Amino acid sequence: EKAGYEHFMLKEIHEQPTSIQKTFAGKLLELEGTVKMDELYLTPEQIKQLRRATIIACGTSWNAGILGKYLFEKLTGIHTDIETASEFRYGNPVLCGEELTIAITQSGETADTLAAVRSSKSYGCRAIAITNVVGSTITRESDSVVYTRAGPEIGVAATKTFTTQLITLYMLAIYLGRGRGVLTAEDSKNLIVNIKRLPGQIQKILNRKKKIKECAEQFADKRDYFFIGRYLNFPIALEGALKLKEISYIHAEGYAAGELKHGPLALITEDTPVVAIATKGHTYDKILSNIKEVKARNATVIAVANDDDTEIEKYADVVLRIPSSHEMTSPVLSSVVLQLLAYYTALAKDCSIDKPRNLAKSVTVE
Ligand code: F6R
Repeated sequence: EKAGYEHFMLKEIHEQPTSIQKTFAGKLLELEGTVKMDELYLTPEQIKQLRRATIIACGTSWNAGILGKYLFEKLTGIHTDIETASEFRYGNPVLCGEELTIAITQSGETADTLAAVRSSKSYGCRAIAITNVVGSTITRESDSVVYTRAGPEIGVAATKTFTTQLITLYMLAIYLGRGRGVLTAEDSKNLIVNIKRLPGQIQKILNRKKKIKECAEQFADKRDYFFIGRYLNFPIALEGALKLKEISYIHAEGYAAGELKHGPLALITEDTPVVAIATKGHTYDKILSNIKEVKARNATVIAVANDDDTEIEKYADVVLRIPSSHEMTSPVLSSVVLQLLAYYTALAKDCSIDKPRNLAKSVTVE
């Protein structure tokens, strides 16, 4: 069942090249610089008129949603909010009914997400669901459904469902961005080329996982960990911290790197490994400054950086490499590194990886 892997989680991490490929199969029209998304049932006129979107999700899916917000605002020009489903339900959302609600839920059964979608629909919003489970409750509650094609995920920690959610968000953003005339065909082609490269690039990361394992083992006895990133790498830092805490039980915090000096820097000591996602992009120099801030507190810095980055070794103690990709698509690669880091840390601590304590695969209670 585990196809020779020690845990479902490791098997599912290794399935990502295939699950991503399946998720975008037949949808990426590279020559035209567009994406096929007939399942949305939106007319060209409706797409042009969209003014606002609200992404609703929990946990790992919420982390994917933060990246979704950045992608939407950059590529479609639609003002986009991201809300935790359990907060959205009991807040006072100001919705006028012309907005899009995008629910992200791999199981399609998360009670809070379902209730939040029902609530947004009561204002007249149009709901799109991104889910991995055909026929799940969310598919009946939404106006349209875009499926991730990750296949069954048995490990409680979401891995391949997360990265396929990201792929789906890229496709949605490109589709809407092209339809609204915000994204040029040329920029869209460039993104599509980079998305198509991801499966092969993930395979490369998997082939070199030994270095990630060694790093995990080196720090497996630490009590606290920090994960920092900026812009598109911020949600990846949150997700890296969530994965580590849920399966290895190490206290981990994910932070927008610019926020460190507003409080959490007080917790950084020589005993705190800080994972900094330092891939190339327009915030690269900023994250280098943040790395210097934590180095000044004697923290050990583990950087996730591109293969062609020749500077980073001057700043970081350990460098975990990913192939070079577009600034917008490299978060997918970084997240695979952090999944492996969490996995090997939990393995070194002999934790119950596929069934962490206190957690369930699908949270059908409020
Ligand atoms: C973490 C994890 C959870 C889920 C969350 C939402 O690894 O799996 O945080 O992401 O419970 O679940 P779905 O996506 O099914 O709504």
